[in-house]
Amino acid sequence: MGILLEKKFKKFIPELYKSVIDSAVDVAQQNNIKLYLIGGAVRDLILGNPFKDIDITVEADAINFANVLKSQLNCKIISVQENLRTAKIEFGNGVQIDFASTRQEKYIASGVLPVAFNFGCELEKDVKRRDFTINTLAFLLNGVDKYKLIDYCEGFADLKSGKIKILHSKSFIDDPSRIIRALKFMVRLDFKLDSNTQKLMKDYLSEPLKKIPLERVKNELFQYFEIPKKGLYKYIIDYKVYKLFGNNPITKFEEKDLSNFKNEELQFIYFAFLVLNSEYEEERFNLTSRERKILDEIKQLLANDIQVKDDFEIYKKYNQKQELAIKIYYLITKDETVIRYSNVLSAVKVLINGDDLIKLGLKPSKDFSLIFEAVLKEKLKGKIKSKEEEINFAKKWSR
Ligand code: CTP
Repeated sequence: MGILLEKKFKKFIPELYKSVIDSAVDVAQQNNIKLYLIGGAVRDLILGNPFKDIDITVEADAINFANVLKSQLNCKIISVQENLRTAKIEFGNGVQIDFASTRQEKYIASGVLPVAFNFGCELEKDVKRRDFTINTLAFLLNGVDKYKLIDYCEGFADLKSGKIKILHSKSFIDDPSRIIRALKFMVRLDFKLDSNTQKLMKDYLSEPLKKIPLERVKNELFQYFEIPKKGLYKYIIDYKVYKLFGNNPITKFEEKDLSNFKNEELQFIYFAFLVLNSEYEEERFNLTSRERKILDEIKQLLANDIQVKDDFEIYKKYNQKQELAIKIYYLITKDETVIRYSNVLSAVKVLINGDDLIKLGLKPSKDFSLIFEAVLKEKLKGKIKSKEEEINFAKKWSR
């Protein structure tokens, strides 16, 4: 008889989606095309977790199917991905659903997106390309076997016993970002890592591949740090997942110092902790120019740890640096001069500019920067405040 997911499905799917799915199912049925729900949505539906979104998998070419839907229903195709044969459709009521073709995947090189082929293949082949058994569960949305659980990899038992199990022994080599995905599901679902999966993870981490791109790894890391739970970084350390990024993660910081950061800052802070002490190659992470800048500035600050003597030197040390770089430097070093800079000195600004000096009858020269510096020093000492005072000071200085 098998496990029937009809009730759970009806409870899981929001009302707006139901009519849309029903009409897509009718079209598929008329055209003899099988539609499946597979992966994350089936996992979450069985676990009773809230609905996020659904992708419908088509055992055929999904772009062709999207065109059939367009010709028969009130909907439009809003985007397609030719290389993966997927199509995003928006229905008349505003609901958007991704339609994906069943496919196989081949990893040509580690860490890079796999090459997809055999679009429209049997579901079983599609299932075998996936990461963990709990992500391989599926059921049909149409036909006589509608809603009957399809479980090629014993994913249901693993879902019930709370186990994260990889499908084959090369999986982490093909795609090391799955190591972070394993932690992500472990923490998010409160599951355990299967012992062989843990061993394969350990094997990979004992000697991570050196030259491979790590962009996917970084993306998964950022997603991992979105989980609203505590202790996320500790798992990265305890399971030695930091080895994907380098050998010397920063671990000496106080958790409580992190409580006021926004989520996207926190994601980057943890990433910085993992890479800063290592000889990593920036290109491997495909960093944005801002990310690059912040990391470079933290490194400069860490390298330049001479004792600063006065407010002017403190100002010079931090001025023009990205705020997040300064904050991360503080988390690592607890350097009190950061507090002095952020609370007091950073507000000090020289108000006069080159035009003001020209108006005083001065000719543009190297002296201008000396004047600005002298004004700044006076302002930091609190001796002058207003623009007028700055102009008077500049006048005297240049005589
Ligand atoms: N997948 C994979 N390897 C990856 C990323 C994804 O095998 N590196 C597979 C998984 O089987 C997953 C499916 O592609 O079920 C869709 O990926 P994604 O949307 O990231 O996963 P979900 O399981 O839907 O996770 P989430 O709940 O975080 O959206």
